[in-house]
Amino acid sequence: MKKNNLIATVFAMAALSASAITPQPSSISFIENAKPLKLGKETTVRIIGAESSDSIRLAEYMSAHDFTVVPTKKKAQVSLSIDQQLGHEAYNLHVNNKGVSISASSGAGLFYGIQTLMDLRDDYSKSIPALSISDSPRFAYRGMMLDISRHPRDKEFILKQIRAMERLNLNRLHLHLTDAAGWRIESEKYPRLNTVASWRPEETWKEWNAGGNLYGGTHGGFLTKEELKEIVDYAADRYITVIPEVEMPSHSEEVFAAYPMLSCTHTDKGCSNFCAGSEATFEFIQELLDEVLEIFPSEYIHIGGDEAPKGQWTECDACRKRMADEGLASPEHLQSYFIRRIQDYLSSKGRKAIVWDDALEGDGPSESAVIMSWRGTEPSSVSLPVILSPGRYCYLDSYQDAPSTQPEAIGGYTSLSTLYDYDPDPAAVGFQGNLWCEYIPTDSHAEYMLYPRMLAVAETAWTPAERKNADDFRRRAISESERMRTEGFTVFDLNTEVGNRPEAQTPVDHLAKGKKVTYLSPYWKNYPAGGDSTLVDGLRGGWNYSDRLWQGFLSADSDERVDVLIDLGAETPIQEISATFMQICGPDVWFPEHVTIYAGNDPDDLTELTSINHTQIADTEVSFRDFGWKGSATARYVRYRATAAKGVIFIDEIIVR
Ligand code: ACM
Ligand code: ZN
Repeated sequence: MKKNNLIATVFAMAALSASAITPQPSSISFIENAKPLKLGKETTVRIIGAESSDSIRLAEYMSAHDFTVVPTKKKAQVSLSIDQQLGHEAYNLHVNNKGVSISASSGAGLFYGIQTLMDLRDDYSKSIPALSISDSPRFAYRGMMLDISRHPRDKEFILKQIRAMERLNLNRLHLHLTDAAGWRIESEKYPRLNTVASWRPEETWKEWNAGGNLYGGTHGGFLTKEELKEIVDYAADRYITVIPEVEMPSHSEEVFAAYPMLSCTHTDKGCSNFCAGSEATFEFIQELLDEVLEIFPSEYIHIGGDEAPKGQWTECDACRKRMADEGLASPEHLQSYFIRRIQDYLSSKGRKAIVWDDALEGDGPSESAVIMSWRGTEPSSVSLPVILSPGRYCYLDSYQDAPSTQPEAIGGYTSLSTLYDYDPDPAAVGFQGNLWCEYIPTDSHAEYMLYPRMLAVAETAWTPAERKNADDFRRRAISESERMRTEGFTVFDLNTEVGNRPEAQTPVDHLAKGKKVTYLSPYWKNYPAGGDSTLVDGLRGGWNYSDRLWQGFLSADSDERVDVLIDLGAETPIQEISATFMQICGPDVWFPEHVTIYAGNDPDDLTELTSINHTQIADTEVSFRDFGWKGSATARYVRYRATAAKGVIFIDEIIVR
């Protein structure tokens, strides 16, 4: 017992001595018995051999962060120098009692070395132990996405988030600038985008959505070209590239409020897709892109490509004609035609496209595209480069703790540790956290959802998988959260974390566990959980219906939802049959309206044990409810049936006792 305690203490000290650097470097070694570096009243820095633009950038940055930059020839406590042998964003950092040397082959590498030095300075105050760090990122693209369409954010908010990103070695800020809820980029060519499409009658997305998705009004706004350029420059000074996303071919209702002729219906109603049959669409988008490219110098431009309802195109004469003229077999191929045409235009301007993985449908994009995977598309399944940002792990609009303790979210449950434990395929080119903002009206709420989870995104994107350590990370996330609060960020408090649904934390044993289940109505293929055995596997679902433990049921045109027959294998005395349902009305997940439970020995002639009616009532909670029977029966077969007039049903573990 004593010995174990001792070992635990030694491990804890080792973890502590690895310092609060986040993300953790690839390798760090402390030099034993060496004198530490005593930092003086001012920490002097000299920059040797960097390109002059980098020297200016780094000097300005360091001067703004309590370093005193001195001329190259002078002695200084910190030396930055160029070492062409190192990889693009890699750096080496050495500390001894004489000073700190940081070397890298690029300004970016030096910048990450400076970030590490700032962590060490925070950590050890005036006395930094002698050490050597050799560091380079796991993924070249390390991103954060902000949706500023659903709720507008001002320039200052975005600059502040860039300051958080720089401390985490993140290097791509993806701005989701356009969507049905509002157009947020200034356009001189198409001014109605700013006079109509940037505005709505209601302040919040929820009110706007409930109010019929109208445009014009006093709520909303957009960023001017000047403000956007300032954001781009501010980010560039921190080695962060801003990638604008301009949504197409769908998620574009706000454009049609301003320019209705561009939709398939030629009105501002009933269509979210640009008309792919109309040349006016391509002229409009190309002219807009000219303006966008002028603001954003990034090589990659995100052109959306997600969730285009294909039926809108098949109902449109112009789109059908386009499909016939171009020999396109399906609306998915029409989507590929659309995306490829825009890619060609971008190529003519020396740029490339990023698209959501939906764009792989049909022929997919042409080979210059990078795929951003939100639906879980794995790099091994496509020939194009993939940035991973799977919804299950990287969507920071999900609950981060027990829903009853949190502000209303869109749904889901991604705790810090769920995200941290995700191990992206190293074949990906990038990793990104996404903050969609339908349910996030305010700036401080947005930060609350971002932090500390973005720390887990950053460490997963930067640190080699074998160097990740969940316990040590959590300790650092708590102290980093504290530091961020002192800088005015709103951060979720990990000290109050409740964790996953208690029922999901321990397996449950019961008479139906592991028994054969026959589906009299199929489950929804989008949410199969563990397939045919999932309802009796002894594992119960957590806060999130995407946790692969809840099974989904949906019928397009009937009330039929769950209908399963369980074979207990032999006639068995039973006293209880029950199952748990989840309700979260935002994403249309409802409790059932009707549950009927049967049992007996002849599957074709079972006895009804109970029939339960329930009225579906909308609320803003995430709720769980058991529907069951208690009594006395003997039976080999149990049938559990649930119906509902609307929505998806999620059920887990049918427990028989
Ligand atoms: C997405 O979440 N529709 C990319
Ligand atoms: Zn059309």
